[in-house]
Amino acid sequence: MSRIIVKNNGSLSGKVCISGSKNSSLPILAACILTKGKNIISGVPDLSDISTMYSLLESLGVKIDVHKDRVVLDCKNIVHYTTPYELVGKMRGSFLLAGALLSRMGKARISLPGGCPIGTRPVDLHLKGFAAMGADISQGHGYVELSAKKLKGARIYLDFPSVGATENIIMAAALAEGETIIENAAAEPEIVDLTDFLIKQGAKIEGSGSDTIKITGVKELNPTTHKVIPDRIEAGTFIVAFSMTRGYGTIENVNYSHIKPVVAKLSEMGVDIKDNGNNILTINAEHTLRTSDVKTLPFPGFPTDMQAPFTALMSTAKGTGVIVETVFENRFLHIGELNRMGANIRIDGRTSVIEGVNSLSGAKVNAFDLRGGAALVVAGMSAKGETEITGVEHIQRGYENFVEKFAKIGANIVFDKK
Ligand code: EPZ
Repeated sequence: MSRIIVKNNGSLSGKVCISGSKNSSLPILAACILTKGKNIISGVPDLSDISTMYSLLESLGVKIDVHKDRVVLDCKNIVHYTTPYELVGKMRGSFLLAGALLSRMGKARISLPGGCPIGTRPVDLHLKGFAAMGADISQGHGYVELSAKKLKGARIYLDFPSVGATENIIMAAALAEGETIIENAAAEPEIVDLTDFLIKQGAKIEGSGSDTIKITGVKELNPTTHKVIPDRIEAGTFIVAFSMTRGYGTIENVNYSHIKPVVAKLSEMGVDIKDNGNNILTINAEHTLRTSDVKTLPFPGFPTDMQAPFTALMSTAKGTGVIVETVFENRFLHIGELNRMGANIRIDGRTSVIEGVNSLSGAKVNAFDLRGGAALVVAGMSAKGETEITGVEHIQRGYENFVEKFAKIGANIVFDKK
């Protein structure tokens, strides 16, 4: 089984460049099928989740040319409206094809994405939106079947500001008849990146980035070019890594406004983070850090995807910190593994209480999910001795050149492909 081996090599230092956002790339790639031509997207990271999305799109008839600096998606001929069952099971983000496919083909047959280690991950809010727009919906044999001659605009109130549901409904509404209003919409930067892309294709969208988004359907959308925003969670992970090892570093290709909630919390802990402009940050953590309290919330609150790396950082800070995970019901799987490394963390439902310890000790640990895996690697960089992390495939889903980037800033890290 593949593993990552990390040894304490002192403080990280140097410069790291952040890749394009995975969670922005996935809906934007799906949105390409709303046009009958060639879209050119740059900044898409080379990740296993992205490769899965390419395979899904190709199975529908999209011609995809991946170049070093861009990907060209020719969506002239979409010949299928069913996504292969085994592919959707591999990557939940595949469900983001539902809205665009329904809009383009009038039909979509997508396997239910199923759960994942962090939660059951239902899609009821996605389906509520499609039904409100007039789609007929049936479920059976692990598939959701959607059909609608022509989707009609509707007013939709989301019980929870779901990122995926907001994205799916926007893509379904872009070519619908009339006006769609999404209330209690998600406001994540990835939503704004998607709507920037759609507006360049000719969509009429207002309010993106707020809790109310208005989409006025148009007759057709035209292919365009787009550069994906930087990955704010990768940026946050590297800031935590410099901080965990009490290092000093520079991070390039970061949109400061996207990571404000993370910067605010790290500053409370005593990390000096400077916005140098031109999307460049400097991180100085060469001193004692204090614990802080965190509650994960939809944007602009503290992002749930940063909860695991932040838990690792707090485990060796001075004091006691409390983290409440309000977004997913089972996103503490990394805590048992951190405790095997000598952390002192207690869980009570969706709340974890972290008593900072002087240092962690290297151990054999397992990654159960993407961000939990990243947290264990970062913890290993500051632990005494050697840490071996299995479940590496989870990490490869969401961090481009993860090992190489850390090695370049001084980490003693090896990917042992078994
Ligand atoms: C997106 O997932 C991200 N993934 C997640 O990142 C991220 O953690 C999440 O948003 C929250 O920010 C992608 O963008 C590909 P949600 P998504 O719908 O859209 C409940 C990572 O590590 N819910 O906002 O699936 C759901 O159960 C991944 O990069 C419903 O109840 O998240 C969860 O508790 C992990 N019904 C909450 O909402 C629905 O129909 C948030 O889910 C949809 C969601």
